[in-house]
Amino acid sequence: MGKAMKSLHVEISSLQLKSPLMTASGTSGHGNGTEVLRKGPRIISSLGAFVTKGVTLEPREGNPELRIVETRSGIINSIGLQNSGVEIFVKEELPDFLNVDLPIVVNIAANTVEEFGKLASYLNDNDLGQIIKGIEINVSCPNIKKGGMSFGVDPRQVERIVKTVKKRIDSRIVVITKLTPNVTDITLPARAAIEGGSDALSMINTLRAMAIDISTGRPSLLDNKTGGLSGPAIKPVGVFMVYECFDKIPECNSRKVPIIGIGGITTWRDVLEYIMAGATAVGIGTAWFVNQDIFNGIYDGIKRYVDKNKKDLSDLIGKAHEE
Ligand SMILES: Cc1cc2nc3c(=O)[nH]c(=O)nc-3n(C[C@H](O)[C@H](O)[C@H](O)COP(=O)(O)O)c2cc1C
Repeated sequence: MGKAMKSLHVEISSLQLKSPLMTASGTSGHGNGTEVLRKGPRIISSLGAFVTKGVTLEPREGNPELRIVETRSGIINSIGLQNSGVEIFVKEELPDFLNVDLPIVVNIAANTVEEFGKLASYLNDNDLGQIIKGIEINVSCPNIKKGGMSFGVDPRQVERIVKTVKKRIDSRIVVITKLTPNVTDITLPARAAIEGGSDALSMINTLRAMAIDISTGRPSLLDNKTGGLSGPAIKPVGVFMVYECFDKIPECNSRKVPIIGIGGITTWRDVLEYIMAGATAVGIGTAWFVNQDIFNGIYDGIKRYVDKNKKDLSDLIGKAHEE
């Protein structure tokens, strides 16, 4: 093979990704808010897929301000899934992706199992251009009062939601289940999602967290009080949970159900850590707020690494498990 260029190509079920880098839901907008994609053609070539922010059946205003507080090595957010609802999403925002040469994954959230089903049906039936290539089920939002994370900590609910969504959409659409780290054993909801028919898993969503403003003596996030921690502080938790699922779940180990590793990635080294722990692809969120060139920089770093080490990226998946 000598100097042959090595590949960053990976597969998430039937999705072909030319790079393992994906946006993490909620951090790069969708439709009119697709800031990442407005950065031009270079970013499209660095990304493997685009994940939208969470869409719900009805419009949601989100939680009142203040909704983001900075912490050491991270942020705590309580956005509360602000979005304009699925109808407007399909009519006004989805068409923005028509000519974007990337698999588009729509992140969905709901208050009840039935609502998840309706939302999935709506997306399936109204996406006339077949723009949607994947649906990521968010059973892990810590910042909403109904549903959200309470689903993700209950394996039976996870299984029911995944089954319901799968039933309502074409089999060409890949279903990814996004798991919450706010559990004792991540493999339980992971196995439940697989049992329900999930084609892939993504982990982790944010960790429940809180900050107090000592000048007022009140919680910094005044309305919701608690929020979800993201950013570099959570990376070791994400890496551990990916490792755990790859280690303990045969479908993950065989990559029949690939894992998308998310949480605290800021450098190409972080990406490799996730890949070696068992992730097939990765999502990057908070770091993009800080550095809008992040996807290109990380892409170049990984490319240099695989070329130098004469290995395709996919050969490194789960390397940390080798004896
Ligand atoms: C401001 C903000 C909004 C988010 N919105 C969503 C969302 O709508 N749906 C979802 O599944 N995850 C959402 N997340 C979680 C991220 O997708 C990601 O799982 C988490 O932030 C960890 O990755 P990071 O450390 O790279 O940000 C959000 C995170 C942040 C910081």
